Amino acid sequence: MFKAVLLEKNDAGFHAGVSQIDESRLPEGDVLVAVEYSTLNYKDALAITNTGPVVRNWPMVPGIDGAGTILESNHPDWRVGEGFILNGWGVGETHWGCLAERARLKGDWLVPLPAWFTTRQAMAIGTAGYTAMLSVMALQDHFARKGTKHDDGEVLVTGATGGVGSVAIALLAKMGYRVVASTGKASEADYLRTLGAQAVIDRAELGTPGKPLQKERWIGIVDCVGSHTLVNALAQTRYGGAVAACGLTQGGD
Ligand SMILES: NC(=O)c1ccc[n+]([C@@H]2O[C@H](COP(=O)([O-])OP(=O)(O)OC[C@H]3O[C@@H](n4cnc5c(N)ncnc54)[C@H](OP(=O)(O)O)[C@@H]3O)[C@@H](O)[C@H]2O)c1
Repeated sequence: MFKAVLLEKNDAGFHAGVSQIDESRLPEGDVLVAVEYSTLNYKDALAITNTGPVVRNWPMVPGIDGAGTILESNHPDWRVGEGFILNGWGVGETHWGCLAERARLKGDWLVPLPAWFTTRQAMAIGTAGYTAMLSVMALQDHFARKGTKHDDGEVLVTGATGGVGSVAIALLAKMGYRVVASTGKASEADYLRTLGAQAVIDRAELGTPGKPLQKERWIGIVDCVGSHTLVNALAQTRYGGAVAACGLTQGGD
């Protein structure tokens, strides 16, 4: 038996609670894992409060990410006792997730826990930090292909105080880029500068319909906001620049 958050929806309605579950109820997979840490991602919050169409199969154990240790493995790449990290792959949506002491997952979904991280640190970075790094790596790939240098111009990060945006700022600044943070929270400007932003702009500058071509400013953008913000940011992207768009907090329009 193991402890897990269990979400149920049936004739009696929706119910979320902590349950004792028998391991025989775990879904199919080629690795059984002990989950040591998970995060409370936005998707998990939607699932647990039944306020968004995140859960596709019922009942569901939420938890879209996790880190822990392999307990059993039928996968060629994974041995008992190894540390893993999982982000996404529909876990917590279509496949029982990591807000649980145990999970049965596909070995192909897991990445090895680097020796210099604890499972707790890996989940402190979480899927938000992972998304930020993927976005920054996408920009780096593009810059390398184009021969763009750190001091060629500014990189914009929208949704700056959020989970993805804040990590993206810290990563880009540490790598030596000139980062401009776009935020709706003027009171957080000092925090954003502490993370490494060289300038902070009001998100209202980007949030309403603008012209399709605007003054070129950004060599790169990590956009967490979508909607008009993404359209304006694209219109201000320098020729040969790149945008990593990973979010829709302003809207899906
Ligand atoms: N977290 C993940 O694991 C993950 C993974 C993949 C994709 N995403 C997507 O990336 C986006 C950001 O995720 P997150 O975890 O960073 O979310 P978050 O922590 O809630 O941050 C989102 C930020 O967006 C800004 N924002 C909120 N409402 C806005 C609005 N109406 N107009 C303009 N800006 C607004 C706010 O930043 P300011 O107050 O600083 O403006 C807020 O802090 C989401 O769309 C999410 O679905 C997230």
